[in-house]
Amino acid sequence: MSRARFSTTCFVVLCVGLIYVHRALSAEKTAQGNSCVQCHSKLPASSFYGAKSHGWVGSIHQRHGITCNDCHGGNPAAPGEKQAHIGVLGSSDPHSPVYFKNIPATCGKCHGAEYFKFKQSLHYQMLESTGQGPDCVTCHGSMVTKVLSPDALAGVCARCHNQSMHIFPDVPQKAKQVLLMLRESKALLDADQRVYTAPRSAKTAQILDEAAIELHDAKLDWHKFDLNSITNYLLKFYNTMEKLPPAPAPAGH
Ligand code: HEC
Ligand code: HEC
Ligand code: HEC
Ligand code: HEC
Ligand code: HEC
Repeated sequence: MSRARFSTTCFVVLCVGLIYVHRALSAEKTAQGNSCVQCHSKLPASSFYGAKSHGWVGSIHQRHGITCNDCHGGNPAAPGEKQAHIGVLGSSDPHSPVYFKNIPATCGKCHGAEYFKFKQSLHYQMLESTGQGPDCVTCHGSMVTKVLSPDALAGVCARCHNQSMHIFPDVPQKAKQVLLMLRESKALLDADQRVYTAPRSAKTAQILDEAAIELHDAKLDWHKFDLNSITNYLLKFYNTMEKLPPAPAPAGH
């Protein structure tokens, strides 16, 4: 590795480190002035309420400073339980923002695009009419809000889509394949964005942009659970990627 390259690498590592520390500190700062986090962190993990509360720790939401009151309401500036809990309702209360039928709208405040697609799905209709469809937390977990691995995903779909329930039992395997394909496509685009380094020709830039949009559309249709539509977008994506000219030779060696 040349010296110039080495110091660039050091610089990048340092910047990434600083960004990380800054993020961790600002998440900490949000938590410090927040009575929900402070008091709930002391509840024993063995209790129901403790276990639920601790689920938030380490989540992507914690890292972005999204705290309890963003989803549950209440007053995070009040130190006492009574005052802090004004407006906070348990999940079995139909007026609670975390009552299962209200969860999509609660998450949708910030994830509007996913919510919009979700509302077009049969799952949403089932959730509204019979209460039997999955809601956002069925697949993402209530506070950990993880994005599932393909295998874990198949497991979630199989809770309802299986032979004994007779509702589209082939869904879990199909969904797993589609999610794998979605991830491979993302990896391919990321790799090509590195290969075709700037300055790109106008044509290359246009092809990469077009492919990125098609991938984004595929991802969004995920929340409609229309596996065929996702596959169609991915096929378009692959067709677009085929149009890329040969990659430029690596520079500088
Ligand atoms: C001083 C301590 C304290 C503070 C501050 C506090 N809580 Fe709680 N919270 C508790 C305890 C203890 C429980 C367990 C149930 C109970 O005793 O009411 C609880 C229960 C809950 C529940 C479950 C309610 C139910 O009926 O199922 C939610 C949701 C909740 N808290 C959210 C919050 C939010 C959001 C905040 C901040 C706006 C907050 N809490 C602030 C101590 C606190
Ligand atoms: C991204 C939104 C979100 C955030 C942030 C969040 N929660 Fe929750 N929480 C939910 C949802 C949705 C449920 C209900 C579904 C479930 O129990 O899985 C829930 C359930 C709970 C429950 C069980 C209440 C009941 O009545 O069943 C408690 C207690 C709780 N949360 C406390 C907290 C605390 C304390 C924090 C912050 C440290 C927090 N939550 C942060 C979304 C969130
Ligand atoms: C107050 C705003 C807010 C609310 C309410 C909220 N989120 Fe988030 N969520 C965010 C932010 C900010 C991020 C991190 C940046 C991003 O990916 O957009 C995030 C990230 C996520 C991610 C991870 C995305 C990824 O790229 O890995 C998932 C999944 C998620 N949220 C699901 C939910 C669910 C489910 C709910 C409801 C229970 C919810 N969110 C409620 C703001 C919110
Ligand atoms: C039946 C399962 C399921 C349900 C229900 C569901 N999701 Fe997802 N969601 C997923 C999967 C799987 C992914 C990951 C796709 C991927 O890896 O690209 C995802 C991805 C996401 C992301 C990250 C998108 C990104 O750009 O990386 C967000 C945010 C999100 N979901 C929010 C929601 C919200 C809000 C709801 C409710 C309105 C919801 N999800 C309902 C399965 C579900
Ligand atoms: C909580 C139960 C539940 C879970 C979990 C669930 N589903 Fe469903 N799903 C249903 C129900 C109920 C129907 C409607 C069946 C009917 O029409 O009789 C359905 C229908 C469907 C359909 C066909 C209808 C349509 O919208 O085109 C697809 C595709 C589907 N689900 C995909 C999935 C995927 C993918 C997962 C996992 C990520 C999943 N489902 C998880 C309950 C569930």
